[in-house]
Amino acid sequence: MKTKPAGSIGVFDSGFGGLLVLKDIVRLLPAYDYVYLGDTARVPYGNRSPEVVYEFTRQAVDFLFSKGCELIIIACNTASAEALRRIQQEHLPEAYGRTKRVLGVVVPAAEEAVAKTENARVGLIATEGTINSGAFRKELIRRKKRIKVFSQSAPLLVPLIETGEYASEPAKLILKKYLSPLFAKKIDTLILGCTHYGILKREIQKLAGKRVLILSEGTVVARKLREYLLRHPEIDSRLSRHSRRVFYTTDLTRRFAKLGSRFFGSPVRAIRADLER
Ligand code: DGL
Repeated sequence: MKTKPAGSIGVFDSGFGGLLVLKDIVRLLPAYDYVYLGDTARVPYGNRSPEVVYEFTRQAVDFLFSKGCELIIIACNTASAEALRRIQQEHLPEAYGRTKRVLGVVVPAAEEAVAKTENARVGLIATEGTINSGAFRKELIRRKKRIKVFSQSAPLLVPLIETGEYASEPAKLILKKYLSPLFAKKIDTLILGCTHYGILKREIQKLAGKRVLILSEGTVVARKLREYLLRHPEIDSRLSRHSRRVFYTTDLTRRFAKLGSRFFGSPVRAIRADLER
């Protein structure tokens, strides 16, 4: 008997950042149905302990599966770095058997950086949690032994972005302070290892000059997802295609409607989600 296609693609982030990734995914794969979840009540994740990030991510994954998702993209580097492996290895087999899939953003970004760098000097800007996890370093070195990775955590950027203050003069100064030490290392590729930072790409490119490739994750993740679905027709066949987009947030604020729409590129009307039930 043929399985009826029924599932959506879930996209999860701690806040707005994942909407930039979803925008690129929808542009490349518009026919699928998507459910977005932003944990805006508990953002930022980047300064929290791995245990808390795991617990929040597990709740988010369960919520998205309860809304009919078949496949989830964790569009949050912090959650990908600190929780994804345990979700894949422990939670999914225990709670869902082998049917559901959860993918992250660290591996696609690391693959792309390795493919693009010419001098094998790669910069990484990310949250404290992502940097401390060592996940990027591990994925980069696994693919290219002689690669040099220069990391910088940027704890102030996510709060500035979530409050809509990212284009202000103080924000530009902070950005410059974070990035200057990386540019001094003669990197030729800079990974924006936090999905929120995609909104700063133009500003960062200006600071970096033309010689540094700024790698933001949206387009990379979208392309890798398309390749993944081509490689896994058994999953692709379970995904529904009615071009539906549904947005959930754990805190319904006016800011989400305004900034969310700016990040996603078209109007976003969110429904409140309760993850702790
Ligand atoms: N977008 C998340 C990431 O990619 C933001 C992290 C946070 O909530 O601090 O890491």
